[in-house]
Amino acid sequence: MRALTVIPGRADSGAVVEMPEPPAADGPILVRTLAVGVCGTDTEILAGDYGWAPDGEERLIIGHESLGEVLEAPAGSDFRRGDLVAGVVRRPDPVPCLACGAGEWDMCRNGRYTERGIKQRHGYAAERFRIEAEFLVPVDRRLGALGVLLEPASILAKAWEHIDRIGLRARWAPRSVLVTGAGPIGLLAAMMGAQRGLEVHVLARREGAQAELARALGATYYTGRIADLPFHPDVVLECTGVPALVMEATLQLAPGGICCQAGVSAGEKRICVDAGTLERRMVLGNQVLFGTVNANLRHYHAAAAALAKADRAWLGRLVTRREPLENWRAAVARQPDDIKTIIDFTL
Ligand code: BGC
Repeated sequence: MRALTVIPGRADSGAVVEMPEPPAADGPILVRTLAVGVCGTDTEILAGDYGWAPDGEERLIIGHESLGEVLEAPAGSDFRRGDLVAGVVRRPDPVPCLACGAGEWDMCRNGRYTERGIKQRHGYAAERFRIEAEFLVPVDRRLGALGVLLEPASILAKAWEHIDRIGLRARWAPRSVLVTGAGPIGLLAAMMGAQRGLEVHVLARREGAQAELARALGATYYTGRIADLPFHPDVVLECTGVPALVMEATLQLAPGGICCQAGVSAGEKRICVDAGTLERRMVLGNQVLFGTVNANLRHYHAAAAALAKADRAWLGRLVTRREPLENWRAAVARQPDDIKTIIDFTL
């Protein structure tokens, strides 16, 4: 079968190659891939900056934002031929640590977790994959190809859940959220903020389709500097991974505010910050800055519920480009108007 692969750590090693059929060891359910989403992590892996091949193999099949159709499922499983599904990315570490042992592999404590398409496990950018039933999530038929947004949405479902849990430390009724970044992660964060009835503000680099999508949610859209914003948000969802923005956003928080860092950047980036002011504001304002990565099953289910509630026409506008597998180079090369590009295995 054809698969999009890379030699991790080696730039420009991406290639569509013939790979063996998925091994039975990957799980009893056989899925035909319909689409995989392309995200910043894939770009980093293809650039040789991130990613690990399975032990003993040279190439890694990439792709962690999946959508497929079940081809074979054992009798008695919750899945049937034809079901639309998405695969969970992370697998618990083998120890397992306390978190992984409790099904919260997204909170793995020893770093020995594996991730499909990223860390020591083949991903979903192959014509077929096998998977364990407990790591497979049903996708609402009505979502169709937009089911490929389930994995990125799961990241935000986790972020919002953790914001809520941190909020429980005291009496708290947040009114406003500032989302920094208007890529797929930023826009899905804003969508979930609007679903919670919050006043949503989105700050990004430029006007364009992203701004229209934010405004369609009822959000206010800004292209200026965080420090010039006319308000102090109760919640910040930082979705760019730009270190300076993380600092500026935290400094802009309202008292009792929570800044969630969901964006991630590769490598070292030094900036000059007034750590004194930051520390003073955070202490005197009881503020929290925290990071979040990945998602466990309950976040995938929460994400599925959020996508089911969303306006499908709006979600459809997030997917700005579909490329067939052989055009993967075009798919991963970012163009100015791209929001989410998917590799469509049905083309
Ligand atoms: C994926 C997460 C993963 C993270 C780090 C992200 O792009 O969505 O599932 O945990 O990369 O590898």
